[in-house]
Amino acid sequence: MARTFSPDFVWGSATASYQIEGAATEDGRGPSIWDTFSHTPGRTLNGDTGDVADDHYHRWAEDLGHIAALGLDAYRFSIAWPRVQPGGSGAFNQAGLDFYSRLVDRLLEHGVRPVATMYHWDLPQELEDAGGWPVRETALRFQDYAAGIVGALGDRVHTWTTLNEPWCAAYLGYASGVHAPGRTEPAAALAAVHHLNLAHGLAGRVVREAAPTAELSVTLNLHVSRPASESDADRDAVRRIDALGNRAFLGPMLDGAYPADLLADTASVTDWSFVHEGDEKVAAQPLDVLGVNYYMTNLVRAWDGVSPRSDADGHGSSAHSPWVAADGVDFLPQHGPHTAMGWNIDPTGMTELLLRLKREYPSQPLMITENGAAFDDVVSPDGAVHDANRVDYLHRHIDAVGEAIDQGADVRGYFVWSLLDNFEWSFGYDRRFGIIRVDYDTQERLWKDSAHWYQRLVATDELPPPAGGGTAVS
Ligand code: FCB
Repeated sequence: MARTFSPDFVWGSATASYQIEGAATEDGRGPSIWDTFSHTPGRTLNGDTGDVADDHYHRWAEDLGHIAALGLDAYRFSIAWPRVQPGGSGAFNQAGLDFYSRLVDRLLEHGVRPVATMYHWDLPQELEDAGGWPVRETALRFQDYAAGIVGALGDRVHTWTTLNEPWCAAYLGYASGVHAPGRTEPAAALAAVHHLNLAHGLAGRVVREAAPTAELSVTLNLHVSRPASESDADRDAVRRIDALGNRAFLGPMLDGAYPADLLADTASVTDWSFVHEGDEKVAAQPLDVLGVNYYMTNLVRAWDGVSPRSDADGHGSSAHSPWVAADGVDFLPQHGPHTAMGWNIDPTGMTELLLRLKREYPSQPLMITENGAAFDDVVSPDGAVHDANRVDYLHRHIDAVGEAIDQGADVRGYFVWSLLDNFEWSFGYDRRFGIIRVDYDTQERLWKDSAHWYQRLVATDELPPPAGGGTAVS
């Protein structure tokens, strides 16, 4: 029998401002760290930038037509801070606010819940010039920015998500440097972790006060790490990665405190004196839903100090590790199949993660805010994209969500990443995650088989078979 989901289960799709909007210098938008980074030679594959991206800034109405045709219950998008407050402080840009206001109104007209992310990595460049996330002031500026956008859009937005994947913003941005702003300063990365947690709490308070009927959430990319063996050393490596990758955020946001082992593990890098009295309480705003992004698992071992390292954590190659103070930990390559990102496909990690969260935070509702796969899609002679591998990936992962629900996890919805092919950060336009193909020469949108498949799921709440039984690339 096909797996079914409750009629209340929310089906959505997700995007992010810098990845789709383009119009980087239009209507008063200021530069963000991603403009600077992508325009720096050698930082992105093929030198790709988000200058034009999917041209969504001009084609938003057409894109909303696709959202409506898919029948989505919810659409997760992000607001570009430099579009609505170009310098990151001071005056707001009415043209930018109007863009999101129109988008939200049109979503509501179509009966689609707007789920707005306040920060999906496009920090105004001026704030980075003043120190970026490693300085406390940035969190305070974020609070003002939140007040501006919540004031403008208020509870027309169904769910406010403060941050997307602060793990990436802090560690890829400031430790390994594979993301903007490309800094490689381990102590600064930990300060960024804290100021992102603080920013989340400050913005969360704004939402509670200014939009009391809206829901509050945050989106984390929680890591599912498995030990290479049952040895104490390998298990301790997993514990260390869990502290840096998961509990550095779950701790303050859900428990109101940083875990003691994280502070001890990183003591050689920082004394955490940037954490002020009361900050962790601020970070611990009760969440209506915790957003979870899941793509893959990690295989972790204690490094013996001599054998060659593989550092196969899936987060891009750099001479500097994103895993601060974890030089003794190595990430092993994993068995296929893999996606075009080189990420292993393992839906059991999805179930495992959701059940862990249920165990540790039994009363916390959960939402899958991203899951999906990049493959080297081809347009067939019949003009279609038969992305059986993506359909298979989605089928197996949504089934894994259903499995977690059967076992008691309170999962309220699922957002496929992504609605459209888009600018995949340092991989530029080379990696296609969309269920809708974008032809970057013409900006034409084309539904892949996965979009048709997802449309059927959304309409019926019943998991359709993965037609053709797709095979993943390995
Ligand atoms: C996540 C990001 C999202 C997208 C997917 C593939 O880490 O939140 O913007 O790039 O990965």
